[in-house]
Amino acid sequence: MEGLKSRVRWLMILMVMIRVLHVECRQPVLHRVGGGRFTWAPNIDFTEWSNQENFYVGDWLYFGFDKHIYNVLEVNKTSYDNCIDKDFIYNVTRGGRDVFNLTEANTYFFLSGRGYCFEGMKVAVQVREIPPEPLLLNHGFQSYVYIHAILLAMLATACACIILF
Ligand SMILES: *[C@@H]1O[C@H](CO)[C@@H](O)[C@H](O)[C@H]1NC(C)=O
Ligand SMILES: *[C@@H]1O[C@H](CO)[C@@H](O)[C@H](O)[C@H]1NC(C)=O
Ligand SMILES: *[C@@H]1O[C@H](CO)[C@@H](O)[C@H](O)[C@H]1NC(C)=O
Repeated sequence: MEGLKSRVRWLMILMVMIRVLHVECRQPVLHRVGGGRFTWAPNIDFTEWSNQENFYVGDWLYFGFDKHIYNVLEVNKTSYDNCIDKDFIYNVTRGGRDVFNLTEANTYFFLSGRGYCFEGMKVAVQVREIPPEPLLLNHGFQSYVYIHAILLAMLATACACIILF
């Protein structure tokens, strides 16, 4: 009976360790808006792009564009819906290879001013908290999933040892 208790305790410690490792293993992902190096441009379906990505707190957006033509402004939903580029929240525009830190679990809205919002240059990004379990399988998660597999193998081995010996 005592033996079983201590085995169970060890198993629980092991599982807590694995959870901690999970959280620490996820690296921030840089999301290239539009999918490429230079794809903050008109006539790209940013809604489709955004729906295919998983954004988590701590990730980054990358906007690659011609700074002489376009810009990147963070706006609120009303301005996003109506393509209003006045009184924006934040001007992301620097040199045309610009990044934005997704620091909160929130929906962020961006558009290009100078009329290009009307040609489709706007994107909404829904950012979530990092999940406790790696349920998602997009390319940003590959190393994460790999580590998960190793940890599962370790857990299985540990379980076998605890049960057998
Ligand atoms: C970006 O966000 C991460 C996660 O919230 C934070 O740790 C980091 O300090 C931020 N970096 C900058 C430059 O704001
Ligand atoms: C969005 O921003 C515009 C421009 O600053 C402002 O007039 C409007 O009240 C804001 N809407 C909301 C819902 O915050
Ligand atoms: C945004 O910032 C860039 C670089 O500082 C500047 O050239 C540009 O005029 C700004 N755009 C707006 C709309 O304020």
